[in-house]
Amino acid sequence: MPRVPLGRPDPGRPHPAARPGPGDGPADPVRARAAPRPATALTVHPAAAVPPPDPAPALSHARRWRTGVVQEAAPDGVVDLGPGYIEPALLPVSLLRDAYAQALAEYGAAALGYGHNPGAEPLRALLAARAAAADDRPCAPEQVVLTSGTSQALYLLATSLAAPGDTVLTEQLSYDLGRQIFRDCALRVDPVATDESGMVPEALDRALAQAASAGTRTAFVYLTPTHHNPTGRTMPPERRRRLLSVAARHDVLIVEDDAYAELPLTDDHTPPPSLAALAGYRGVVRLCSFSKTLGPGLRLGWLLADRAVADRLVSHGLFASGGSLNHTTSLAVGTLLASGAYDRHLASFRGQLRDRRDALVGALREAAGERPEFRVPQGGFFLWLRFGPGSDESALLAGAARAGVGVAAGSRFGTTQEGAVRLAFSYHPPAVLKQAAQRLTTAWAGSMPRPRIGVRS
Ligand SMILES: Cc1ncc(COP(=O)(O)O)c(C=O)c1O
Repeated sequence: MPRVPLGRPDPGRPHPAARPGPGDGPADPVRARAAPRPATALTVHPAAAVPPPDPAPALSHARRWRTGVVQEAAPDGVVDLGPGYIEPALLPVSLLRDAYAQALAEYGAAALGYGHNPGAEPLRALLAARAAAADDRPCAPEQVVLTSGTSQALYLLATSLAAPGDTVLTEQLSYDLGRQIFRDCALRVDPVATDESGMVPEALDRALAQAASAGTRTAFVYLTPTHHNPTGRTMPPERRRRLLSVAARHDVLIVEDDAYAELPLTDDHTPPPSLAALAGYRGVVRLCSFSKTLGPGLRLGWLLADRAVADRLVSHGLFASGGSLNHTTSLAVGTLLASGAYDRHLASFRGQLRDRRDALVGALREAAGERPEFRVPQGGFFLWLRFGPGSDESALLAGAARAGVGVAAGSRFGTTQEGAVRLAFSYHPPAVLKQAAQRLTTAWAGSMPRPRIGVRS
């Protein structure tokens, strides 16, 4: 994809997407939860006194952010660093309103029909060209299938390319809800040893050989090599090549979950080429999503594969019955890619995320010194804190609860050798993150067994 410099928004001005419109509540979600609702005016004014409506007022970002509408909203007073959500003020509400209007104007009724089964050509062509430019190798629109996000793509792969009883091999720590999808499809999920660079090729080799000699079919290997959830790690190119060569030798497919690939947080960090690019798309299905860049409510993602695999996936009855998996939204988002508005948004959003990461990292360093240990992530949403051998996760969770801060338990993502938690810096503004870090370190002061090596970047 084209490199876009990080936006450094003027510190005196709010992010364009966060600028409140008329009647908007405060953009800060913590304050928004506590803000009283304005009373509805009952007075009816004569028509002449009513100002003409603004044809395109900025839309509210915090309005109706509550349980029963959104997936999860933290109780009042709790600062939730648990889920990998985007802060409401950073969701580009007005941009999407305009994009839907433009798509409906441009495509008319065709925007509301069943869409072309693999997804509308305009967006697939743009995504293929983007992949080709980023990877410096050809990528045809026929290799792109639009999905309802990565979760749905994982379900599609688990039901199309695997059979109940098959095995999926994962990193030792990996996206917990992805593993849940595989298990719900009656697949067996086996973790493979991982080190600081990601999955260990020799361990993958052994796991595949053992599965073959036991007569178990390995459906695919599931990896998140870039800005990993939960650890924030990015796999170096050499490790990528070695894993690809092991998988190719065993003729096993790799599913590359690249949900955070478009979110490097510094200009000098370009993520290494994707596994799919390194393999020329042979033997790798790459999953991408707009959930972490534009908003998960869009339920729009895409997968890249070689043509044969893409055709096989689209032959599923799901497409014959419902057509494109998310047609109207894909046309709307297509207008943003075509006009350059998506890349401008991305640059600004990455700058905002970087500010949040730096605020959390800085406050933890200041308040906690050398403990807990963490690596500064080069991209994505998450900071992974490790508390050392002998630390007790339940004590850490209890401390966080006392501090009124939500955190994700490390054990959710797999077996950990020490107490660990994941903090998302994507969901709160810098000031709230700083305060949360101070509250956490005070609450955790007694839970850390002994000094660790310290912070690395
Ligand atoms: C690694 C990973 N994959 C997939 C998803 C879900 O993606 P989507 O919203 O596109 O279904 C997430 C969201 O947290 C994630 O972290």
